[in-house]
Amino acid sequence: MGLNKKTVDDINVKGKRVLCRCDFNVPLIDGKITDENRLVAALPTIKKLISDGGRVILCSHLGKPKGEPLPELSLAPVAKRLSELLGQEVKFAADPEVVGKNAKAAVEAMKDGDVILLENTRYRAEETKNGEAFSKDLASLCDVFVNDAFGTAHRAHCSNVGVTAYVDTSVVGYLMQKEIDFLGNAVENPVRPFVAILGGAKVSSKIPVIENLLDKVDTLIIGGGMAYTFMAAHGEPVGNSLLEEDYKEYALKMEEKAKAKGVDLLIPIDTVIGDDFSNDCNIRVVGRGEIPDGWEGLDIGPKSCELFTDAIKNAKTVVWNGPMGCFEMPNFAKGTEAICETLAEIDGTTIIGGGDSASAVNNLGYGNKMTHISTGGGASLEFLEGKELPGVAAANDK
Ligand code: 3PG
Repeated sequence: MGLNKKTVDDINVKGKRVLCRCDFNVPLIDGKITDENRLVAALPTIKKLISDGGRVILCSHLGKPKGEPLPELSLAPVAKRLSELLGQEVKFAADPEVVGKNAKAAVEAMKDGDVILLENTRYRAEETKNGEAFSKDLASLCDVFVNDAFGTAHRAHCSNVGVTAYVDTSVVGYLMQKEIDFLGNAVENPVRPFVAILGGAKVSSKIPVIENLLDKVDTLIIGGGMAYTFMAAHGEPVGNSLLEEDYKEYALKMEEKAKAKGVDLLIPIDTVIGDDFSNDCNIRVVGRGEIPDGWEGLDIGPKSCELFTDAIKNAKTVVWNGPMGCFEMPNFAKGTEAICETLAEIDGTTIIGGGDSASAVNNLGYGNKMTHISTGGGASLEFLEGKELPGVAAANDK
């Protein structure tokens, strides 16, 4: 899917009220932002709109308040941090109705180049239902709509889809464009060899992405919790490891499909196992088919690391979604780290899906070594499934 949408470079925002939907759904602990990657990623578009003399009205959701104005899910801390990052005040339009009296007055008082942030869009119950009233409320605040919220692009909500029905001009921002260019190009026009690495807990959540990627890649590597279902499908014991019984047949079908298409499908040939789900449990490394009762697979083993990194090292395009093991526990992070190390060194384009994979890469210190780390978890996965994302589709075509 290529991007043929109007962008912030195609519009003149001087003196106009610009509603800019961002994804500021960041982790907060006691009101402190613990990962600000999404804020940093939104800055280029915001700066562009400021320097072009727009009146910039930012909006986003945060968490799932389900229509309740929950104070712990207020975007106030985001306004504060954005002010620091931008070096200019981002006025917070505190308003339990999001577009109520306070927000309207704040917009009314704006001058060219000013920035305000509206309250959490999910304080309004209509938001997630893509309801008309709230879409119209949002549209009433602005002359132009910019969608830069890639992380939310797989949702059809008022603040990224509904609103576009009531605004003449709807374009995408730089972050949205960058995400789609990288993820889209990687999948549609990959420089080969093209390797995809999939991990994470469940086969069931990755079915459409496996199906889509098998039509495109040269090699598909499967690690993480989902690999145990593939092992079990061959009748191998997996002890207490993650297993989706109902997907064993599917795993075999995928192996057959890979064979028919000439795709190398690799699964781990050894496993780091523990007798408990904790970093300090007893740990062993066993070969394929050797996980005993009472033990569970928590990472890929050293031989699998070698197998996988060998398959990656000559790749020209790699897409990675899902860790190889329980990387949050240092004793089970080696498989994920080995992949990070290899990706950091290869002479090719490396694209990391958002969510857990992005956290793994950033927490292990490889963030600046990758070509692109997506800010979208669910959105990047749906994109890799080949789906059209409603948040992208709603923007004006060029
Ligand atoms: C995300 O974090 O994946 C996006 O912000 C979407 O959030 P949601 O899953 O709550 O819709």
